[in-house]
Amino acid sequence: MFSLQNICRSLGLVSLVLSSLTNAATLTVSTTGGNASSPLLYGLMFEDINNSGDGGIHGQLLKNNGFQGTSPTTSPYAAVGSATISRDTSNPLSSAITSSLKVSVASGTTGYVGFSNAGYNGVPVNLDTYANYFWVKGAYSGIVTLELVGASSGIVYASQNLTITSTASSFSYIDTTFASTQSPDGNNVWQLTFDASQVAGGSLWFALPQLFPVTYHARYNGIRLDVGNFLEAMNPSFLRFPGGNNLEGASPATRWKWNETIGPVEDRPGRQGDWGYANTDALGLMEYLQWCEDMNLAPVLAIWSGLSLGGGIASGTALTPYVNDALNELEFLLGSTSTTLGALRSSYGHPAPYNITMLEIGNEDNLSSGCSTYASRFTAFYNAIHATYPSITIIASTTSSSCLPSPLPSGVWTDIHHYEEPHAFVSLFNEFDNYPRTDGYGIFVGEYANTADDSGATTYWSTVQGAVSEAVYMIGLERNSDLVKMASYAPLLEHYDVAEWSPDLVGLDARPGSLTGSVSYYVQKLFSTARGNTILPVTSDTAFNPLFWVASSTTTGKYYVKLANYGTTAQSVTIKIPNASGVSATAGLQTLTGGATSSNYPLDVTVLPTSTTVSGSASGGWTFSVPGYGVAVLTVSPA
Ligand SMILES: *[C@@H]1O[C@H](CO)[C@@H](O)[C@H](O)[C@H]1NC(C)=O
Ligand SMILES: *[C@@H]1O[C@H](CO)[C@@H](O)[C@H](O)[C@H]1NC(C)=O
Ligand SMILES: *[C@@H]1O[C@H](CO)[C@@H](O)[C@H](O)[C@H]1NC(C)=O
Ligand SMILES: *[C@@H]1O[C@H](CO)[C@@H](O)[C@H](O)[C@H]1NC(C)=O
Ligand SMILES: *[C@@H]1O[C@H](CO)[C@@H](O)[C@H](O)[C@H]1NC(C)=O
Ligand SMILES: *[C@@H]1O[C@H](CO)[C@@H](O)[C@H](O)[C@H]1NC(C)=O
Ligand SMILES: *[C@@H]1O[C@H](CO)[C@@H](O)[C@H](O)[C@H]1NC(C)=O
Repeated sequence: MFSLQNICRSLGLVSLVLSSLTNAATLTVSTTGGNASSPLLYGLMFEDINNSGDGGIHGQLLKNNGFQGTSPTTSPYAAVGSATISRDTSNPLSSAITSSLKVSVASGTTGYVGFSNAGYNGVPVNLDTYANYFWVKGAYSGIVTLELVGASSGIVYASQNLTITSTASSFSYIDTTFASTQSPDGNNVWQLTFDASQVAGGSLWFALPQLFPVTYHARYNGIRLDVGNFLEAMNPSFLRFPGGNNLEGASPATRWKWNETIGPVEDRPGRQGDWGYANTDALGLMEYLQWCEDMNLAPVLAIWSGLSLGGGIASGTALTPYVNDALNELEFLLGSTSTTLGALRSSYGHPAPYNITMLEIGNEDNLSSGCSTYASRFTAFYNAIHATYPSITIIASTTSSSCLPSPLPSGVWTDIHHYEEPHAFVSLFNEFDNYPRTDGYGIFVGEYANTADDSGATTYWSTVQGAVSEAVYMIGLERNSDLVKMASYAPLLEHYDVAEWSPDLVGLDARPGSLTGSVSYYVQKLFSTARGNTILPVTSDTAFNPLFWVASSTTTGKYYVKLANYGTTAQSVTIKIPNASGVSATAGLQTLTGGATSSNYPLDVTVLPTSTTVSGSASGGWTFSVPGYGVAVLTVSPA
């Protein structure tokens, strides 16, 4: 077999570079044949886990602002000055927000007193414009000072005086914006103070304070601009939401309820999420869909299937109210404004129906004792939804055939999840090579990630070896993307200070510059930004492993070849596309590599793709090296 190394050896030319290359491979890409690739292949899976929603992508920066969840405390509020603070249920803001913060001032007090909120382990304070909303009750007429302050330094980064008038009879709504300077760290609080002499011997009540930096697409109650841009840069195609386990509830009564996540935030009760903390649901159904519209993502709407995490399962006739609830949700999303719920949607600012083309029934219904009832539960939802909305693609939450109706209705896709060790992802490379292609079935890899090393030890941060193993798996998915419609790494995002489920694709905390892409993030981005429409046949003089590849072409005449090298030594590769005409001799090459256990850490990102060019020709090929534990994408463009 042709080998660059052998030729060099025979010429006595073993250079340092070449001696580290092994198994020179020649790949020949056909320009015809092959299968269409799913246009949705790479996307996002989102649920509120590890404060990825509240404290993560959602723009609102103050924690516990509505005292939601099962056991609200006053953390992270603190009194400022000699005031005392307590949570008070006798002055609720609304039937949903049932507590307010009572700020009491002792008789004779003067000066400015009030309260602070330390956010999610600090308030990110940047050179930005902040929108600030809150409600206040109690007799007061005068200045309220809003500030962003260093918690230990006392440095004031932003200060705004508002003159307000509030009364004892009802809550007044205050809405303002102010500019801030940059804090060097995340150790900041937001604080509100008022003239104590006016309140001395009495109290004021504050409810649902909200602090937002400028948001993605400048939306009211929107997602963070920095996080939105970071995800958009991955070129995702879809968003699966709202879970995941967080859809399920600890019991049927505490499942995610669409109707309690819509409308004014003061009407959203929030809920105790499934990951150990309260969800405000300010990031609610319409905010998810706004995110989809602004990022051009196809929504993959998950609905509750009757299965709760705690094991409570509604099935048989007990399921009927939940099937009706799903139909109500769809009327809300898709109904014309002449329907009751379509009119409600319109009243909340979205007269046009949303573009819902995919709907998933449940989450991991093969687990949590759900398997034996899922076939009947799935069928109840499927029949009702398909009858009314025949063009929606319905996705079953498991691929395990023993949990599914037999036969599965044609056109149904099934979801499969993989949290694996690196060697397991490599052996899953051919998972779908021989999978039946019948009846319009499709596969959705709704969650996957390398979560442990090959000895089973949890990888807290995505490593190069793990990310390369994911790349091997993704190459397998892309080669089968006539069948595999979508795939999403999970979880998407974490707040570092509270994360226990790791690794996550992206992380952040309150510090400037803390938004960090894991190694896996950069692999996702490399693959998702180099997508063809057609997967092309490739012949090679070398078998797969440790080198893996997939080639594709676009309708605009570009060719992409993605490669992953799961071996420890570099591989020399020559890629020929002999029948490609009119392509540039200069190809783009992006490469990512690092030490097997290297990771990206907050404020310490070392594993990034590098870009270079390679000269060659379609018939002679482009020759380059794929480093050990490396991922590469070759781009050949029209001349
Ligand atoms: C190139 O085109 C010729 C003529 O159609 C064909 O015989 C040959 O197989 C093609 N080569 C590849 C790699 O597709
Ligand atoms: C196209 O799909 C078929 C399975 O239906 C598979 O055998 C073939 O290898 C695929 N072609 C490419 C180029 O991936
Ligand atoms: C806000 O009002 C307080 C109290 O009157 C005053 O001391 C302070 O200078 C004012 N701050 C600004 C920024 O105007
Ligand atoms: C939301 O809908 C459920 C029925 O699925 C109902 O039990 C609940 O009361 C509704 N919530 C509100 C606030 O209307
Ligand atoms: C609706 O979404 C589908 C799938 O993502 C897309 O193909 C279609 O163009 C969208 N339609 C509109 C009107 O945006
Ligand atoms: C459930 O499906 C997952 C993949 O989505 C699989 O790993 C697991 O083994 C399945 N469990 C059962 C009990 O079927
Ligand atoms: C983060 O998520 C994990 C799930 O893996 C959960 O056990 C933990 O409670 C969460 N941490 C916080 C602080 O919410």
